[in-house]
Amino acid sequence: MKFFIDTANLNDIAEAEALGVLDGVTTNPSLMAKEGITGAENILNHYKKICDLVEGDVSAEVIATDYDGMIKQGEELAALHPQIVVKLPMIADGVKACKYFSDKGIKTNVTLIFSAGQALLAAKAGATYVSPFLGRLDDISTDGLNLISEMRLIYDNYGFTSKILAASVRNTMHVINCAKLGSDVMTGPLSSITGLLNHPLTDSGLAKFLEDYKKGN
Ligand code: G3P
Repeated sequence: MKFFIDTANLNDIAEAEALGVLDGVTTNPSLMAKEGITGAENILNHYKKICDLVEGDVSAEVIATDYDGMIKQGEELAALHPQIVVKLPMIADGVKACKYFSDKGIKTNVTLIFSAGQALLAAKAGATYVSPFLGRLDDISTDGLNLISEMRLIYDNYGFTSKILAASVRNTMHVINCAKLGSDVMTGPLSSITGLLNHPLTDSGLAKFLEDYKKGN
């Protein structure tokens, strides 16, 4: 399973990259705003900085909600850097725009997926990545992981090549369960990646090894 980090914070991206396990980055307008990155030009520059920090795919989201606007913004984003993936919302014009970019060989990420039907539509439109929002489904007492299972079954049934990009991942158990269910990619905050390092028996075991080494030296 590929690990993407879901942030616009350059320090967090650099830390995940330094760990050697990072495969890409996802962002959205809320994450940009959280870092104080506002205004079209600053946002475009920030995407370029992110692309310079990592080697993998970097999802950059359109703001337009109409077909023509999405095409214009998506082409501008795609022209920024070869690593850019055009992120489109799961609405009718987003599906149409996804088909347009897929036909042109431009990578896409269809976002805000909350049902198997939406996931099927995005795959039929040729999306490179399809992003089910795990945590937000859990937030409303719906089983987010069930959507990952449904998507895996449907995509495998028909050999869809779209990658399942589990998004709105909030914690390490989400990451582990996504891996168990065969998600192709997960994207979450830095803590969902670094949290996987932790086990008290690792800490106590290492402390004991060092203590015993000191005794003999
Ligand atoms: O990748 C989608 C993500 O940014 C949404 O996460 O935690 O705001 O639901 P969250």
